[in-house]
Amino acid sequence: MTPGPALLDLEGLSAGYDGIPVVEDISLAIAPGEVISLMGRNGMGKTTLLKAAMGLIPAMRGRVGIMGVDHSRTPAHKRAAAGLGWVPEGRRIFADLTVVENLEMARRIGPWTPATVFDLFPRLAERKRHYGDTLSGGEQQMLAIGRALLTNPNVLIVDEATEGLAPKIRDEIWETFDTLRHQGLAVIVVDKHLDQLLSLCDRHFVMEKGRIVLSGGREALMADPERLHRFLGV
Ligand SMILES: Nc1ncnc2c1ncn2[C@@H]1O[C@H](COP(=O)(O)OP(=O)(O)OP(=O)(O)O)[C@@H](O)[C@H]1O
Ligand SMILES: [Mg+2]
Repeated sequence: MTPGPALLDLEGLSAGYDGIPVVEDISLAIAPGEVISLMGRNGMGKTTLLKAAMGLIPAMRGRVGIMGVDHSRTPAHKRAAAGLGWVPEGRRIFADLTVVENLEMARRIGPWTPATVFDLFPRLAERKRHYGDTLSGGEQQMLAIGRALLTNPNVLIVDEATEGLAPKIRDEIWETFDTLRHQGLAVIVVDKHLDQLLSLCDRHFVMEKGRIVLSGGREALMADPERLHRFLGV
């Protein structure tokens, strides 16, 4: 695919809860500048897979490589330091901190600073001194993405990227991922908007009951639209 180690490389990864696997035998790799989607109906294991990649739940089997280094057993903060940026479902903004304070909390050495986040999201700059709980859903998502960028990641992992957002804001979020990929970041995105995912992402991974049942580019996915729609429940 690309020379050099993948930014993130999952090999035969299985993970779940209380000793019971929920996702099984997942293999995927992502290179600089790539945007990939993870799709599937509710409860199929998308969030579980992302959490296992991030180290928020342990792997039962398999390997997690970050920049060619084995991180299968390291805690989440080490994976963050190694290059994974995490934008959780529901955003998890600190309600009683301001926008700037939310950003400063996450800051690590690197090119991303609050100022560069404000360049990316001018709308957020206008809300600098506002508290987290006074922001709109879209502003909160911008802040959650900005906070992840301040850890200076190579791979941005975004669960339910545009959930609950107005169409105009959704478009801004999609454009942001495109901007970031042109800066060499990789993005893994979970979302329910098939058309936008198909036009944005280089490759797709469709999950069904904890396994990847379909993957590839737009053509591969659309080769059998009925099958795809069955997997997505649309
Ligand atoms: N903390 C947990 N403890 C036990 N089981 C869980 C836990 N979180 C999720 N599960 C179960 O794991 C399975 C996969 O859930 P997961 O949240 O990964 O799916 P998802 O694809 O992200 O769904 P959604 O589209 O609703 O976000 C489901 O059966 C769910 O009930
Ligand atoms: Mg989920």
